[in-house]
Formats: sequence, C-alpha cells, structure tokens
Amino acid sequence: MSLLYNKSLKGSFFVDGDKSISHRAIMLGAIAEGITTIKGFLKGEDCLSTIQCFKDMGIKIIEENNIIKVYGNGLKGLKAPAKALYVGNSGTTIRLISGILASQDFSSTITGDNSILKRPMERIITPLSLMGANIHSNGYKAPITINGTSLNGIEYHMPIDSAQVKSCILLASLYANEKTTIIEKNKSRNHSEIMLRYFGANIKIDNNTITSSPIDKLIAKDIEVCGDISSASFFITAALITKNSHIIIKNVGINPTRIGFLEVLIKMGANIKFLNERYLNGEKIADIEVFSSKLKACDINGAIIPKMIDEIPLFALISSIANGNTIVKDASELKFKESNRIKTISTELNKLGANIIETEDGMIIEGNKNFIATKCNSHNDHRIAMTLAIASLVCQEPIILDDKSCINISFPNFFKILEEITY
Ligand code: S3P
Repeated sequence: MSLLYNKSLKGSFFVDGDKSISHRAIMLGAIAEGITTIKGFLKGEDCLSTIQCFKDMGIKIIEENNIIKVYGNGLKGLKAPAKALYVGNSGTTIRLISGILASQDFSSTITGDNSILKRPMERIITPLSLMGANIHSNGYKAPITINGTSLNGIEYHMPIDSAQVKSCILLASLYANEKTTIIEKNKSRNHSEIMLRYFGANIKIDNNTITSSPIDKLIAKDIEVCGDISSASFFITAALITKNSHIIIKNVGINPTRIGFLEVLIKMGANIKFLNERYLNGEKIADIEVFSSKLKACDINGAIIPKMIDEIPLFALISSIANGNTIVKDASELKFKESNRIKTISTELNKLGANIIETEDGMIIEGNKNFIATKCNSHNDHRIAMTLAIASLVCQEPIILDDKSCINISFPNFFKILEEITY
C-alpha cells in the first residue's frame, strides 16, 4: 500500500486503549470474584487473544454497549482448556498467563504464531520453576506445557528489565504459600502492581523491590482504560517532525514508568505539554499537547531504556532527523520483540536514506537526514509498520509498505485517526 506523505497534523483526538492495561484487566477480572467491567478496552488482536484464552478456560466474557464484562470465577476457578491455548502474536499473553496457569488444578499447553515460537521463554520458566512450577518447553521456546502444582515464594533478582517477567512472577505469587519478593535492576512498567492493588492484592513497593504476600481472593472492579502512550507516541512524533503541526491527544496514560520517550523528547527540545493531569484507577493520565519542534540529538542508555522500550523504533526515526548524532546503548532487549527491532528499524530507515549502524546493544544514528520514499517492509511487526507510516509524512512521495495488517495487533484505528488529523 501507498502511505500518506508530505502532510502536517492538526486536531484534538483520542487514541485506542492501553494494551498492557487491557490484557491485565481481562486476566485479573477472570481470577477475581464478581463481575469486572472494562471501558475503553483495546480491541487489538493481542488483547482479543487474551480474551479467547480465558474463554477457552470457561470464563464468560461478553461485550455490552462497548463495555467488556468479565465474569470472574476466583483464583482457582479456571477450567482445563480442551485444546492448546493460542496467544497469536502476543508475548504479554503467553508470559503473564503462565504465572496464572502454574498453580491451577490442571495441565495446559500454550502456543502462538511463528513470531511467538521464536521468542525466549526461559526468562519466565526459570523463576516459575524456582517457585516449584512444573513446565516443559521446546528448548525454552513455545509451545510450553504447564502442569499445575503448589508454589512457594521466592526472592528474585531480575536478570533483565522486563515487565512481562515481573508480572508473570507477581501473578504466580497470588498462589504461593508465602511472600514473594522481586528486585528490579531498573524499573519496568508497573501496571500489574497498580491493578493488583486495585483488585485487593497485598503488594508492597519500596523503590525497585516489590513484595507480594498471600491473599485469599481478588475482588472484581470497574476499570476504565486510558489511551496507550505507545500508540500516542506515533502521532506525537509525527506532530514534532512535520511543519505547522499542533495536536492534543486526550486521556493518555502518563504512568512515570512509561514516559521515557517523552522525557527524552523534551530534553531534545520538543514542545510538549501535559494538560489536565489526573488519575484513573490508580494510573496517571493527561491530555498531551504537541507542536512542531526543532530537535537536537540526545543519547539514551541505562534506566531510561525500559521506560521507552516500545518507542525506540520511533526514537531511531526522530534521531535521524534531529540535529547531531545519537548513541543508543543498553537496548539489547529490542532483539527479542515481535521482530529484532535493532535490525528491522535500522534496515528500513536506511532504505529511506538514514545512516544507522547496528551495535551489540543498540544503534549509532547519524542526524540531519532527509528521507526519500521507497519500498519498505514491515517485517510483520506492528510498531515497525507504524513507524514507517510516520516516516512517510516527511517524504515528498509515498513510502510503499508491503503489509499493513500487522498494525491491528496494537492499534486498529491507526490509519483512520491518521487520515482524520492530517492536512
Ligand atoms: C509489556 C512489556 C514490555 C513491552 C510489551 C508489553 C507488558 O515487554 O515491550 O509491549 O505489557 O508488560 P517486556 O517486559 O518483555 O520488555
């Protein structure tokens, strides 16, 4: 398909619901007692996979007037699925659900699409096994089979910065006979901690140490999902790099563990303002106002990386345009996403005239580049496809993208919104 090109942005609008929060709302709703209602749920393919997995384990989940209702059946109320649970492309689903399945009274197998079959699962199998879980895998890759058993608490020093791993352990800890402590090197997104507390779990947080103590039950809640900052970031980037743009994105999550990209953009000189800051179910949200801006390069490494992990493809794009050169370090986790994003984003942006050199744990990005449209490849990765759609806005001709369907994974309304706000 030909992507929109040579455009500016204006207007005030909403983006689709937060992917991380939507997954967690279904999962906690399913194992809580009572009916959980979810407003603003992201109907992207990944979150729909989570719904299907819980339906396959006997949980009633319906939609009424755009509100999802999850009929929770208690911590141990899931039923053995008749066939393997299929998570599609969703790493969050397979990793988090494993924590819940480790202590059910049945065995289950979890599998997914070709990308899922390649992604590392040792990161969850190791801590779950330390808790006493019984797991078989295909050389630490999916499909994985979990034979439910009783679990003990652990003290776990996270070897990598990963919210999926942390959340998997936290979910398993709900079933353990004693407290579980997780120590993070750098803070990763904390939606699980916030939502678990909201549902009545006993979670204590002291800097990078999280302690979860045994509970009898979770209690169903009403949840309103805010806009996804990772989805908003595509339009934030677009408004910054195009001329005469001015947008306001309403109701977006600005959880401090998610806004590393915005913090860096502001250091680069971006004109971004948070309006109407407020809280929604324990999550900080705001309306985000963005004006076209001239940006200067800024290196990134260390603790900021997990706070902007999904936005690094966009960071590579914006750093190619900014004034000066940029070094990205400590980002080797990018190799284990839906695609190897160090490789895929460098390859695609270099086709457009960028000069990005891949390194072992990041990239070296030359700035002050102009993009020239050509044919590009999404590598079946939603965030690469959307980053290329934003790059096309600063080209004088359209980028031709091989496939846009992967965008439905996280942001089904992406093109509809893009068409409405470009002029
Ligand atoms: C997510 C955590 C991140 C992120 C993913 C969603 C989550 O993955 O990349 O899009 O919802 O917990 P890692 O924890 O593997 O870094």
